[in-house]
Amino acid sequence: MKKILVTGALGQIGTEMVLYLRDLYGKDNVIASGRRRKEGNILMEDGIFELVNVTDSQGLHEVVKKHKINTIYHLAAVLSAVGESDPQRLWDVNMNGLYYTLEVAREFGCDVFIPSSIAAFGPETPKNNTPQDTIQRPTSIYGVSKVAGELLCDYYSAKFGVDTRGLRYPGIISHTTMPGGGTTDYAVHIYFEAIKNKKYTCFLAEGTSMDMMYMPDALESAVQLMEADPQKLKHRNAFNVTGMSFGPEDIYAEIKKHIPDFEMDYDVDPIRQAIADSWPNSLNDSAAREEWGWNPKYDLALMTEDMLKVLREKLK
Ligand code: SER
Repeated sequence: MKKILVTGALGQIGTEMVLYLRDLYGKDNVIASGRRRKEGNILMEDGIFELVNVTDSQGLHEVVKKHKINTIYHLAAVLSAVGESDPQRLWDVNMNGLYYTLEVAREFGCDVFIPSSIAAFGPETPKNNTPQDTIQRPTSIYGVSKVAGELLCDYYSAKFGVDTRGLRYPGIISHTTMPGGGTTDYAVHIYFEAIKNKKYTCFLAEGTSMDMMYMPDALESAVQLMEADPQKLKHRNAFNVTGMSFGPEDIYAEIKKHIPDFEMDYDVDPIRQAIADSWPNSLNDSAAREEWGWNPKYDLALMTEDMLKVLREKLK
């Protein structure tokens, strides 16, 4: 029986991952955790929630022991844009948090899911159809932590036999919890603003293409990888995955099909633009497709239809 701990459970991916895992494995088998409580949040009211700051190895250790955890979805992390304003904190959360998670996994024999990111690539990486195995020289502190994390996971699995698995997530688009300080966040904000104000000012320039994925595909891909037959995996910790690739002008045009008087202009943020420019335009995810059957369901058109439908209801 799986006993799962989700770190960073109050974050954009964490919130929905907990609900998704509870549906699959049973409510009592999925422990949500975060560094603070958030009253009124659905995870506080239904199911087990533990206070865990991933930079506190002792606290993490106690919770894993208390609940006899055998699988960890380690989602606590500081994102790319906010990381540039406090690189020291990013390093502490992303690297020490990961190290303590791997240590506790080694001690208690847990399997671990750890997301990497398109941020693990840099300006010297081939930009289009970016291969699974290629140059990784990122220039953001977030990207540096992701490459180091991929390597640390490889090390823990080779040296200690910890079953670590991971995906290089692109920008994740969703409607339940807002992303906190990423470079791809504009692709979430734009839907909210389209419904609320019919106007959006984009912080990235026209023509800035990046990979993206709709939340249902992000959740399914993580579980699919964790459940995959290990014999079939040639890679482990850093599968390229993507659902779609687009720039601000493409998502704008797609939304405009549904809201004809929607308007967008640009006010480029140089920090986030520099990060976006250093990331790929579009990933090649054939290794994930071949090794464990990755096959996303949502493209830009389908996602836009669903996002607008849900948000219309929600923001009424
Ligand atoms: N969505 C993340 C970010 O923009 C990328 O992993 O920081």
